[in-house]
Amino acid sequence: MSASDRVVVVLGGAGTVGSGIVKALLEKGFQVAVISRDRSRLEKLKQFLPPSACQRLHTLVGDVGSEEGAEAAKEALLKSTGKVTDVVSSLGFSWWQGGPPLTQTLKELHRVLDTLLLSTFTAWKAFFPLVKDNAEGTYTFITGGAGERLLMPGTGFLTLGAAGALAFSLMVREEYPDVPCKLNEVKINMGVTTPEHLGPGYVSHLEVGEAVASLVDKRIVSHTVLSASSPADLKTLALEGKL
Ligand SMILES: NC(=O)c1ccc[n+]([C@@H]2O[C@H](COP(=O)([O-])OP(=O)(O)OC[C@H]3O[C@@H](n4cnc5c(N)ncnc54)[C@H](OP(=O)(O)O)[C@@H]3O)[C@@H](O)[C@H]2O)c1
Repeated sequence: MSASDRVVVVLGGAGTVGSGIVKALLEKGFQVAVISRDRSRLEKLKQFLPPSACQRLHTLVGDVGSEEGAEAAKEALLKSTGKVTDVVSSLGFSWWQGGPPLTQTLKELHRVLDTLLLSTFTAWKAFFPLVKDNAEGTYTFITGGAGERLLMPGTGFLTLGAAGALAFSLMVREEYPDVPCKLNEVKINMGVTTPEHLGPGYVSHLEVGEAVASLVDKRIVSHTVLSASSPADLKTLALEGKL
């Protein structure tokens, strides 16, 4: 199956990490689909991409954060693309630093878990069945090191949400050990931002995009966590499709 025959849904594709992945996949010749709750974010994504690549981009306004919303988005997408062969799940948010837990509300914890963990589940529940039995298909979770430690004071709820996403990806690998699709996690132990905002400890979303697109393209490994802790790790992944 050539890249142009493959349709990759990038969940969270209008976000910081997701937009770098969308660009790199389009550059490799894939068809790419992005769902966002906000039409203006989809327009911003189109402005960021080379116009020629947008011919292979399918966009849809939808909310994958509930079971009904994810099902509706899936059905609408299948109507326009006919199939989904690959999924990259990059849902969540870039940063949360609301303060220490004694200052927080249950409502805020619900919001954080909804965004980082529960949307990952509802989207996965709708989209995983489309690719899981396809030996040429892939499902890739994007996670981060925030789930393993407090990044700095006041980021505790980020740790809770990110830890949930890490555990979710582990659970899926262990509950579905024999699925023929390539099921992987790219864990980015660095901050990710756009090239204009790079600083110490951060990598460009373009470098992350190239690494993830290569993993999806080459399909060498499955049930693996590809843990990237430096730009060199991302380069290796981009060149070799594994670490
Ligand atoms: N940024 C970093 O420094 C970094 C580092 C390591 C790992 N990560 C991981 O990368 C992932 C994405 O982070 P990011 O920085 O790209 O965040 P971001 O810029 O806020 O983008 C997240 C995307 O998730 C989408 N999303 C969330 N809930 C959704 C829902 N219910 N329905 C549809 N889309 C929904 C948002 O879509 P809308 O367009 O609808 O708002 C948004 O496009 C997170 O899991 C994060 O842990 C990030």
